[in-house]
Amino acid sequence: HNADALRTDLMTITRFVLNEQSKHPESRGDFSILLSHIVLGCKFVCSAVNKAGLAKLIGLAGETNIQGEEQKKLDVLSNEVFVKALISSGRTCILVSEEEEDATFVEPSKRGKYCVVFDPLDGSSNIDCGVSIGTIFGIYAVKDDHEPTIEDVLKPGNNMVAAGYCMYGSSCTLVLSTGTGVNGFTLDPSLGEFILTHPDIKIPKKGNIYSVNEGNAKNWDNPTATYVEKCKFPKDGSSPKSLRYIGSMVADVHRTLLYGGIFLYPADKKSPNGKLRVLYEVFPMSFLMEQAGGQAFTGKERALDLIPTKLHERSPIFLGSYDEVEEIKNLYAAEA
Ligand code: AHG
Ligand code: MN
Ligand code: MN
Ligand code: MN
Repeated sequence: HNADALRTDLMTITRFVLNEQSKHPESRGDFSILLSHIVLGCKFVCSAVNKAGLAKLIGLAGETNIQGEEQKKLDVLSNEVFVKALISSGRTCILVSEEEEDATFVEPSKRGKYCVVFDPLDGSSNIDCGVSIGTIFGIYAVKDDHEPTIEDVLKPGNNMVAAGYCMYGSSCTLVLSTGTGVNGFTLDPSLGEFILTHPDIKIPKKGNIYSVNEGNAKNWDNPTATYVEKCKFPKDGSSPKSLRYIGSMVADVHRTLLYGGIFLYPADKKSPNGKLRVLYEVFPMSFLMEQAGGQAFTGKERALDLIPTKLHERSPIFLGSYDEVEEIKNLYAAEA
């Protein structure tokens, strides 16, 4: 019987959110119910990921998604789990998933007031080799005075009421913000509960880690190339930064949030809008970074100000410690 189970003041994610929501007298628990279904999805995917190698869940599912990517079985399974969990919550009206070309409009009898955008399985190229992967989600509130349409979801990230990710790594960690700071919860498998382990996360103002796929260096624009050069050959005599790149956005962002530094997926000549998707990768991670005292910049503007025009639109992204992103913003401003 592990000591935790005997502790009587366990702060579970459910209790935490109920406490948060009690600060909003108008809330009737809808958000808590929605979150409990997202948490259920994360627990399910966590157990599937842990058993993937055993349950023959790895390897290609033989289909490709609209991103033209080989869909791995866990991608497909995770997407189905979250779609079903979100619809069964009765609190959603529009769902946008990386794995589905079109938005899902929930049938009226099960409709609620939230729109959830999500990347059910992030870092799928890392599934087969057992490197950390994750789920990313963002939540918009939708007025229920009209029939939901795509316009309700093509909104700036700033309109989100909550965002978070779950990382399936050496432990299963869920990081969440409902707009009043960032908190991290770790799954205690013996209880099946996410326990508050990282209260009020704040990203260090500076960091000595940079995180980018150096393999794209040939195609970078000047400000990005200049910034990365400076990380490696600092002119002010300071020591060079370390490079850490896992290739799963969730894992690279989680490390950046806790240790400080900067994560970049810049534009390049091949992909002028970079690779990461605005609604369910860039916005949720940018929301979290700002809530933790960091910044998120697209090369042109504050990431959360971007107004998407298409569901699977991509954007370059530079996010992390406040001072590091400030440097990139100055380099792009000088170039403009
Ligand atoms: P997904 O597996 O959901 O499609 O996302 C993969 C993304 C993101 O997780 C990561 O930051 C990025 O792809 C890595 O891209 P490169 O392999 O081009 O560096
Ligand atoms: Mn993908
Ligand atoms: Mn992803
Ligand atoms: Mn994905």
